[in-house]
Amino acid sequence: METVRLDGKALAAKKRESIREGVEKFTAKSGFAPGLAVIIVGDNPASHSYVRGKEKACEKAGILSEKQHLSADVSEKELLDMIGHYNEAPHIHGILVQLPLPDHISESKVIEQISADKDVDGFHPISVGRMVTGQKTLLPCTPAGIMEILKAYDITLSGKNAVVLGRSNIVGKPMAQLLLNEHATVTVCHSRTPNMKDLAKSADIVISAIGKPGLVDDTYIKEGAVVIDVGISRLEDGTLTGDVDEAAVQGQAGHLTPVPGGVGPMTITMLLANTLQAAEEQTA
Ligand code: GUN
Repeated sequence: METVRLDGKALAAKKRESIREGVEKFTAKSGFAPGLAVIIVGDNPASHSYVRGKEKACEKAGILSEKQHLSADVSEKELLDMIGHYNEAPHIHGILVQLPLPDHISESKVIEQISADKDVDGFHPISVGRMVTGQKTLLPCTPAGIMEILKAYDITLSGKNAVVLGRSNIVGKPMAQLLLNEHATVTVCHSRTPNMKDLAKSADIVISAIGKPGLVDDTYIKEGAVVIDVGISRLEDGTLTGDVDEAAVQGQAGHLTPVPGGVGPMTITMLLANTLQAAEEQTA
């Protein structure tokens, strides 16, 4: 069968244009742009590269982004105080603290310090609780972006068997919840799942968020299944690659997101959407 390529890059471009128009309207009406504070601790090159991508996308969309780079030895209290400052700052509508953080800083304390109204990552327990109970909230960007891809390609979720590989708080767990909210039957696999391959092979939709290059080959995929690749790993030669062995599943999968150009561009797009949504809700 012909495998349909799920073009996240093209969808992201379309969505970013409509977000840009929304931002323009918001700014004309309120007299100020939506504002995002981005806090990065330490010198992890991958984190800095992600943050640069977020800043560039904000600028193109007309969103004000304010970056704070703190040294790796900053105290937890200094970071919590900075978040407290942005919680009160009227020109800032979204706060993002890039993860991971150094070991001496508690990730959960930091996430809980962010005002839920400004939680554009959707990581705060209040946001998570709202998502689980199906209330309107700011949703985690990567799973929300995947839901947009599935919707754009008219992929039915209700009544389907979905298997999520990976159980991180950022991707796997919220992904499973959003699929469940759309009436899929969801299985979450992780490092202690003995029969991951069999479970994946039985699924209508497989979402891989593990970070092992080439793990998912044709032996994991049922004929015609939808395959979403969230993994991004850099190989020794510098090329980016996903969890899915694209050549092996070509012709077997019904739909497939490429890496790069699949999920990645939608993640930043949802951050822009969340920042605009937060600004609108805070000024309503
Ligand atoms: N690190 C990796 N992904 C993310 C993300 O979506 N948000 C934040 N804040 N940090 C990350």
